[in-house]
Amino acid sequence: MRSIGILTSGGDAPGMNACIRAVVRYALQKDMRVYGIEKGYEGLINGNIKEMDRRSVSDIIQRGGTVLKTARCKEFTTVEGMKKAAYNMKVFGVDGLVVIGGDGSFRGAKDLFDNFKVPSVGIPGTIDNDLAYTDYTLGFDTAVNTVLSAINNLRDTMTSHDLANIVEVMGRHCGDIALFAGLAGGAEIILIPEKKIPIDEICENLRVNQAKGKLSNIIILAEGAGNAEEIQETIIKETGIQIRTTRLGHIQRGGTPSMADRILAARLAVRAVDLLHADKEKTVNKVVGIKNNKIIDEDYADAFAKTNKGHEDLYNIAKILCS
Ligand code: F6P
Repeated sequence: MRSIGILTSGGDAPGMNACIRAVVRYALQKDMRVYGIEKGYEGLINGNIKEMDRRSVSDIIQRGGTVLKTARCKEFTTVEGMKKAAYNMKVFGVDGLVVIGGDGSFRGAKDLFDNFKVPSVGIPGTIDNDLAYTDYTLGFDTAVNTVLSAINNLRDTMTSHDLANIVEVMGRHCGDIALFAGLAGGAEIILIPEKKIPIDEICENLRVNQAKGKLSNIIILAEGAGNAEEIQETIIKETGIQIRTTRLGHIQRGGTPSMADRILAARLAVRAVDLLHADKEKTVNKVVGIKNNKIIDEDYADAFAKTNKGHEDLYNIAKILCS
């Protein structure tokens, strides 16, 4: 393949810019043309497509967000929308796509291939780490570190006042941000969608901690595992323990990418470009990822078939260490 487009889609994630930079520079080095598509699939539908050179990606490696901008595009879920996108690729002479995003973005890329034979390679970019085929997604490491620094700050003030705090983090279906930040930050209770803990048990844990003289507790809650205010109310009603809530929200999605995210971005970008470069038939339809510190690639369909991330070991360690 001689000409590729690159887009970022869905929620932005730190490391996306480092990845755009790596894709552009590596592809240029392989004598490919690279087109930047603005606002994800929306830009593909509207023809917001511009050729990029080495200088277009200067001074972005350290920045959070995405210079290509991003969107969640309803129109692209329709055959009409995809048809417009495929047409614009022909007009601009773009043979294949690099799609940096999460599950929804990858499903869009697969649909585009199934309906209009547009080849693509998906690079996992989402703070949620909710793609089971890969150990890590771009942005996850940075987001967890951002949460950790918030927990550190909260600890100082919570300990000074003997207070508890429910810290709500992102993760609708996947509790990885809560689990990793909870374990690394020494949270007393970790609430994730994969492991529901009944409210009675949460109250009992807090009572036991109180009896042991532990008066300041951090409960880390993944947004998909319950409602922070409801949990707070019940705890106050059932135990009398004073507890606050803190929702970290979109703060977790911004910020300068960590070393781990930048290195991952470069490694994933190189594999993605290699796959597209080698694809003479224009049939590539794959995602790239990392497993046991090795860069892997597999078909979208195989990646979607995997569901269990399996962090049982970490969860069990956290339970022992945090009590
Ligand atoms: O998918 C990434 C994510 O940050 C989720 O963790 C969160 O639930 C969602 O995006 C928030 O989306 P929005 O930016 O539309 O509020």
